[in-house]
Amino acid sequence: MKKLYFGTNLKMYKNIQETTAYLKDLVNLTMDISRDEIELFVIPSYTSLSNAITCVDRDYIKLGSQNMCWEEEGQYTGEISPLMLKEMNLDLVMIGHSERRHIFGETDATENKKVKCALEHNFTTLLCIGETLEEKNYGISNEVLRTQLKVGFHDVKPEHVSNIWVAYEPVWAIGVNGLPAAVDYVEEKHQVIKKCLIELFGEVANKIPVLYGGSVNPSNANELIIQPSIDGLFTGRSAWQAVAFNKLIRDAKQAHELNH
Ligand code: 13P
Repeated sequence: MKKLYFGTNLKMYKNIQETTAYLKDLVNLTMDISRDEIELFVIPSYTSLSNAITCVDRDYIKLGSQNMCWEEEGQYTGEISPLMLKEMNLDLVMIGHSERRHIFGETDATENKKVKCALEHNFTTLLCIGETLEEKNYGISNEVLRTQLKVGFHDVKPEHVSNIWVAYEPVWAIGVNGLPAAVDYVEEKHQVIKKCLIELFGEVANKIPVLYGGSVNPSNANELIIQPSIDGLFTGRSAWQAVAFNKLIRDAKQAHELNH
């Protein structure tokens, strides 16, 4: 049975105290689930990270940052260096979240610099990709996803593959105004992504987990996780209460077991 990935991005929600309480609850609730079967990760705000690392056993929950600069130090006001994240002993760095690309204007070329830097510093590197509604309507989703992967991973060596994760998050499916994507559509796009990763890195790319994110909720999580090319769920709103996230994880895991 393949390992299933479950994670949440806390975006600009939860202060230090709320993050700590959430993480403690999530560890307690999910502790009995074997970590050979699931990988669980949480990506809190920067200000919550230093408390988060002291309150969580990383064998249970991996912790990540929502962004990272591609330089170790310099005149980059407002940015966070890979060395600063290393100092905190973080596991994971997320690059290219839709909100970074579309609100803050990050480009594929920027994401590529960050991806290479994160991999060189040995972080698990989660590259997020996804087409806009306009691109979907023009029928160019596959081209967009392939471009984001080919530029995002330009010059990345196959030896880094074991530290690469990908999240497919269609821009139109994310957040309060998002429309949940049809399960067949998501599976089809995951197949496009997996094929492109093999083109880039060879067969070793079969090891790269490809997660789906965008309005994942209790009514679509089980259908999504049983698809052959979906390796995990990257959840926003539906994961921000520990009790609800625990239930979503258990239900999805059970649905996957019943179907495999
Ligand atoms: P929602 O699940 O709230 O749509 O957010 C998904 C997301 O952006 C995860 O990074």
